[in-house]
Amino acid sequence: MAVFEALTPAERAGQLRNPEGAVGLAVAEWLNETNRAGNARIVALLGVGPGSHVLEIGFGNGRTVPDVIAQAAEVHYTGLDFSPTMVEEATRFNAALVAAGCASFHLGSAERMPFADASFDRVFSTGVAHFWADPVGPLAEVRRVLRPSGVSLMGCLQPRAAPDFARLEYGVHLHDATAWDTAYRAAGFAGVDIATVEFEQAGPDGASIRRYGFLLTARA
Ligand SMILES: C[S@@+](CC[C@H](N)C(=O)[O-])C[C@H]1O[C@@H](n2cnc3c(N)ncnc32)[C@H](O)[C@@H]1O
Repeated sequence: MAVFEALTPAERAGQLRNPEGAVGLAVAEWLNETNRAGNARIVALLGVGPGSHVLEIGFGNGRTVPDVIAQAAEVHYTGLDFSPTMVEEATRFNAALVAAGCASFHLGSAERMPFADASFDRVFSTGVAHFWADPVGPLAEVRRVLRPSGVSLMGCLQPRAAPDFARLEYGVHLHDATAWDTAYRAAGFAGVDIATVEFEQAGPDGASIRRYGFLLTARA
């Protein structure tokens, strides 16, 4: 918490987009609190069934992984993140699940996923899609790796009451609902269900601030 608050807005955006080193680890812990409810909501809505193959894009320090695996029997979790610091930390935290063959963590980018077509039943992410200047490329990759009956859920910030780091000049792209609908269609989805979600973020004085996000749900 203190580490995140000590950063400038530009540094916050940079560490949220690509957490690095000791500061990145602290920012990821801050995120565990801020995104706890959002991640729990998405995991509950994913509809993970027995034997499901689930992909998470941008897993951060990997704290949601045990919850995903616990949704049903023989779930296989795959994570993709382009931060070496996060891949190392998520792998360390989930070492037992990795050793058991239930989870694997991959260094790579949403823009070019190192997975075969139709590999996953579910694809999800939290706090990642608002870093995409042009979401069509990553969304086309999501569609490519989803199985025909697959579902994708993504939580991201929306323009309303955005935090100080969520600015274009810091690399954060707050697309509105129309832009998201257009991007999903351009990526080959028939459309996207867009819901507004609210969450609380701790401010510098400890008081909580209401934030707004989108929950984007699409079927392959
Ligand atoms: C704000 S953090 C969110 C972490 C986690 N989902 C959470 O809710 O706590 C964003 C994460 O996505 C990763 N990331 C951002 N853009 C990415 C991309 N294009 N491809 C892969 N990973 C990405 C970052 O490295 C970081 O770990």
